[in-house]
Amino acid sequence: MTSPDVSNGMKIYQYDKSAALFRRAAKVIPCGIYGHFSPTPCVPVSAYPFFSERTEGAKFWDVDGNEFVDYMCAYGPMVLGYHHPVVDEAYQAQMKRADSNSVASPKMVELAEFMVDMIPVADWAFFAKNGADVTNYAAMIARAVTGRNKIIAIAGGYHGTTPWMQAAGHHGTIDDDLTHIRRIPWNDFAALERVVAEHPNDVAGFIASPYHHPIFVDNEMPAEGYWQKVQQFLKKNGIVFIIDDVRCGFRLHMGGSNELFGFKPDLICFCKAIANGYPISALVGTESLKNVAAKVFHTGSFWYSAGPMAAALACLQELKRIDGPKIMADQGKKLLAGMVEISKAHGYHLQVSGAPSMPYLRITDDASLMLHQQWCAECTRRGAYLTSHHNWFVSTAHTDEDIQRTLEIADDAFKAVKQAR
Ligand SMILES: Cc1ncc(COP(=O)(O)O)c(C=O)c1O
Repeated sequence: MTSPDVSNGMKIYQYDKSAALFRRAAKVIPCGIYGHFSPTPCVPVSAYPFFSERTEGAKFWDVDGNEFVDYMCAYGPMVLGYHHPVVDEAYQAQMKRADSNSVASPKMVELAEFMVDMIPVADWAFFAKNGADVTNYAAMIARAVTGRNKIIAIAGGYHGTTPWMQAAGHHGTIDDDLTHIRRIPWNDFAALERVVAEHPNDVAGFIASPYHHPIFVDNEMPAEGYWQKVQQFLKKNGIVFIIDDVRCGFRLHMGGSNELFGFKPDLICFCKAIANGYPISALVGTESLKNVAAKVFHTGSFWYSAGPMAAALACLQELKRIDGPKIMADQGKKLLAGMVEISKAHGYHLQVSGAPSMPYLRITDDASLMLHQQWCAECTRRGAYLTSHHNWFVSTAHTDEDIQRTLEIADDAFKAVKQAR
């Protein structure tokens, strides 16, 4: 007889220790686990682990000892595989010499030089910790250089949790936070023209990700010629063009994701994958903005930490050496082709959108998303960690064996979903 914890020979994970830790966390931490790691979008919550103890390559092990092939990659920072020896050695060697210090590290200069060399748009680089540090800085530079107020962003675009970037009505924000923010639909050039015309000489900057990757809905690529028209229009109107490459950066192209789509912004924000998990973000920009950038006061207690700078340099060098974006695109394509074929064999349609290295998937046979949530949950309970609301991430550490194992899991998860229905 089959035990309830096994399906077709595959173990169905239980999370007793995760659940017990979450109960402890909820007593002493608001929400227990907050932000993007929060259990809220994980449906059903019982299918997901919440605490992990160990990581290696493309895998993590939760506190209950369950092993997962990880398709969330720490929500982007893991790009070369957890504990990549080249990055970890560079980090540890730097940590032995100096990390926090009272003056800056030469590593900062080396990292800036490397990025300026590799990224065509970059004439300078600036370092911080989180994505929002640099999206904020970019908006401040746009306002400082133009003397204008308004920032145009895409509806549903995410640039961090600073009040001006949050959606109207979010707890803790006030109406005034959004006084100078205008949101327009993705790929809608006419809307950009209209908003700029409505605010003559008051639009400082336009910020967008290189392609549209919101949560819960299909991701969208730029329409043919969209970015080129935007670039030309912003230049003509003296508006600073900011690309938020925090999520896509170094997964699509080593020169900045804009290179893949053939356009040149004025500023590019990087974070997540830049140092394979070590905490650092970067803003790069054109020569014409360098002097103004120098005048905008922006800093933080840990922004000069040298360890993450050494890790970023090693990570970018390694990604460039192995052509990381190509490896991730190839592995992503294999995963997606397999997933689509398996879903078809079970009579379902799996919609794939976004880049192969960071795809968003959705089963379209149920508009409510419940079927899709159920399938993602069944995959996770069998050892492929993925979410139903957010794009997944592929790393260079995802091997053919990992993908094969994931496809077997996906197949069994479809069987489970069918049985349950
Ligand atoms: C596109 C994009 N921009 C900005 C951010 C904010 O980055 P952080 O959470 O490091 O502040 C994120 C985070 O997910 C992001 O995906």
